[in-house]
Amino acid sequence: MEFKAVFETRSVGETEGLGEKLGSLLSKGDLVALKGDLGAGKTAFTRGIARGLGSEDFVTSPTFTIINEYDGDVPIAHMDAYRLSDAVELEDIGFRDYLKEYVVVIEWADRVIDLLPDEVLLVEFETIGEQERRITFTAKGKKYEKILQELKKS
Ligand SMILES: Nc1ncnc2c1ncn2[C@@H]1O[C@H](COP(=O)(O)OP(=O)(O)OP(=O)(O)O)[C@@H](O)[C@H]1O
Ligand SMILES: [Mg+2]
Repeated sequence: MEFKAVFETRSVGETEGLGEKLGSLLSKGDLVALKGDLGAGKTAFTRGIARGLGSEDFVTSPTFTIINEYDGDVPIAHMDAYRLSDAVELEDIGFRDYLKEYVVVIEWADRVIDLLPDEVLLVEFETIGEQERRITFTAKGKKYEKILQELKKS
């Protein structure tokens, strides 16, 4: 099953707002895989997700730390696969364990896409103008289809 939704944002605030709406619909064990070029808005969107999950932590890029954790109603694990090259490294950072207790958001997910569970919410960011971004969601699995349907309504 696959289900898509496309949004366009006109500012970083709008992208954060969309992430916040998504965050409010997520729960423990959910996996959000982000794809898109440098500066496309993946971290901005993640900042919104964390806020939507009740976190007051400031979300920054985990590029150099590989993984950041935030406190929220559900804890958030924010990963960056930019420097990950294989399955061993993904296991090494504790990916499976995080999925049990956290909402997991992973930037540059296309680098490890074959290693992720079949059920996932994919989010692709495209820069279509200086301030404009096209954000395409693809829900893989029933759970994520429902979440996406709710997101479309809100
Ligand atoms: N509509 C928009 N949505 C998101 N960001 C925008 C938008 N318009 C402009 N921006 C700017 O684009 C940049 C997005 O940066 P961000 O760190 O979120 O990108 P990223 O995809 O995480 O990049 P990286 O791959 O380097 O981690 C910010 O400087 C932000 O201000
Ligand atoms: Mg980033």
